[in-house]
Amino acid sequence: MKKLYLSQIENGSPISQDLYNPHGAILVPKGKTMTPKLRQQLLRNNIDSFLIDITGYESIENYYEHFEEPEIQQIEAVKKVYNNSFASLSSEFENFKRNRNLDKKTLRDTAKELVASIGKYQHVYLGLEGIRRKDFYTYIHSVDVAIFMIVMGKSLRMDEKNLEQAALAGLLHDIGKISIDDSILLKPGKLTNLEMEKMRKHTEIGYEILKEKMNYPDEIARAALEHHERMDALGYPGKISWDKIHLYSRMAAICDVYDAITGERVYKKAMLPHEAVEYLMTIVGKHLDRSLTTQFIRNIAVYPMGTKVELNNGENGIVIKLHDGYPTRPVIKIPEKGIYRDLLQDNTILIQNILCPEESSEAI
Ligand SMILES: [Fe+2]
Repeated sequence: MKKLYLSQIENGSPISQDLYNPHGAILVPKGKTMTPKLRQQLLRNNIDSFLIDITGYESIENYYEHFEEPEIQQIEAVKKVYNNSFASLSSEFENFKRNRNLDKKTLRDTAKELVASIGKYQHVYLGLEGIRRKDFYTYIHSVDVAIFMIVMGKSLRMDEKNLEQAALAGLLHDIGKISIDDSILLKPGKLTNLEMEKMRKHTEIGYEILKEKMNYPDEIARAALEHHERMDALGYPGKISWDKIHLYSRMAAICDVYDAITGERVYKKAMLPHEAVEYLMTIVGKHLDRSLTTQFIRNIAVYPMGTKVELNNGENGIVIKLHDGYPTRPVIKIPEKGIYRDLLQDNTILIQNILCPEESSEAI
């Protein structure tokens, strides 16, 4: 138990855990908000401090405790859609391996569900780096790419139909990998030239599956074909020039690289989002479309929820909430003082440092 003074709780702050007296009775239940009236009532009863339970408080595994009830519900809703998307995409890919067929309706519904869910909970999707499973299967990567494609498409003000197409392009961009041998796909070390040549074929194989076999519209099939093309025309398979690469393919290229470097792979550790942003900036113009990448960076979470940070006022806290469109101005909880700092409201406060990066990037 730890002592918390009433003066440390600001008016308007939600109470995220029960506040006790020294005898263990709850004085203020969690879920309440501090108001001038409540403060007066407490002071009238000579209550100016409380005890709070801090067991496990510093552990990132328990950071759900830092969230208010509605946020936990949102996280659960997002996880459900994510898991559904993952399940239907993986079963469709497995299906294709067996019968050379895809259920286009299931895939379209998956894209639609993702678009609708991100429309409601974009801040939750972007905040939950830990939602990703730490393995390397193509369909998990593809769901992540689809999510990033939707976020980017929304920032480009695409209409719903285009968002769904972009999501489908993301879900299916790596479908050609189902024809690549696992010994190559999952190889921990560097690929030989021959293996690399085979791996690169996933672009053309994907295009063939989507366009010739499944009759998908050209822009969706082209995302499979062109997502490894580069702005400087040094990509593969076609070494085509920037103006020939379809918008969805350019979007997929950015999301693909970002997801690859921030996700854990068999052969490497994940980069933290703020490191990934710096990396993306080093390859814009050469590999990636400059304006789309800038747009993307403006919208992704540089500090995902659960990240431990140090503020310029010396306080240490945990990112507990994100504001759409303001990735560097999240809401920070300061457990020491039991208060919240909303960096969008108070622009004198800045994040100075990320603490314990290994811990803060842990999965939920
Ligand atoms: Fe790929």
